[in-house]
Amino acid sequence: MRYRDTTILITGASSGIGAEFARRLAERGADLVLVARREDRLHGLAAEIRRNRPDAEVTCLATDLARPRPGASLRAALAERGITVGALVNCAGLGLTGPFLEAAPEALHQQIDVNVSALTDLTATFLPDIVARGDGALVNVASLTAYQPVPGMAVYAATKAFVLRFTEALAYELRGTGVRVLALSPGATRSEFYTVSGTDESGVSFESPAEVVSTALRALDSHGRASVVSGRRNKIMAAAAGLLPRRLVVRAAAGSVRPV
Ligand SMILES: NC(=O)c1ccc[n+]([C@@H]2O[C@H](COP(=O)([O-])OP(=O)(O)OC[C@H]3O[C@@H](n4cnc5c(N)ncnc54)[C@H](OP(=O)(O)O)[C@@H]3O)[C@@H](O)[C@H]2O)c1
Repeated sequence: MRYRDTTILITGASSGIGAEFARRLAERGADLVLVARREDRLHGLAAEIRRNRPDAEVTCLATDLARPRPGASLRAALAERGITVGALVNCAGLGLTGPFLEAAPEALHQQIDVNVSALTDLTATFLPDIVARGDGALVNVASLTAYQPVPGMAVYAATKAFVLRFTEALAYELRGTGVRVLALSPGATRSEFYTVSGTDESGVSFESPAEVVSTALRALDSHGRASVVSGRRNKIMAAAAGLLPRRLVVRAAAGSVRPV
């Protein structure tokens, strides 16, 4: 993929994996559009990127992706600035840990709105321009939880199963267009995710956002796969989930997440 003269829109750029994508893609020469709700964080990251690469064009668009169909307003804001998106990283996401019956309905819907609806809407909005260029990439951030049902994170894991299946199907539909489509599935990663989701961190083995983004960039460079799991241990767990009887997989997954 060409990075110079390509504008990459990254959602979830105010923190964790999305912020790391922004740093690393800027290092490769891309211009960026940073999207999340916390505008101060986006501007702070933009300033950091410009210090390291003064010619980087970085645009910050503070947006709540839980609102219906956010793609149209983002596209309009970019059109006003003469910016066409050449690659898209859908990284914004959130989870909620705890029994389904105890969850506030708004919190359940927010996971579906951001993780599924916004991701699908942004893909539908920007993919035609990306395909028209005959280059570029779509990276959708799924999760190790996409590979099995996860009691205690039932809605979150189901949203990520959507992301994984949707992205793998799109990768097949887009073969021959020159556009790389990749589902990235991190396991536990050191970011704000555990705090936001209210998940107990004790005994958890974390990757860093840098390790996760390196996995994605290696996969993009290798031109092959539609889907990659980050981390050797996580790869084994994803493979095992596909091989073992489902009731064992569900039981093991139930023990892996606990609310704080
Ligand atoms: N960390 C893990 O263990 C882990 C494991 C597997 C998969 N993942 C996935 O990796 C992705 C990145 O997560 P992370 O680990 O980097 O977590 P994080 O540090 O909590 O970052 C989440 C990002 O999503 C953005 N976001 C959340 N709700 C939003 C909304 N309504 N509108 C716009 N942006 C919103 C946040 O920005 P604002 O709050 O500023 O809006 C933030 O930039 C997510 O899709 C997550 O599901 C994470």
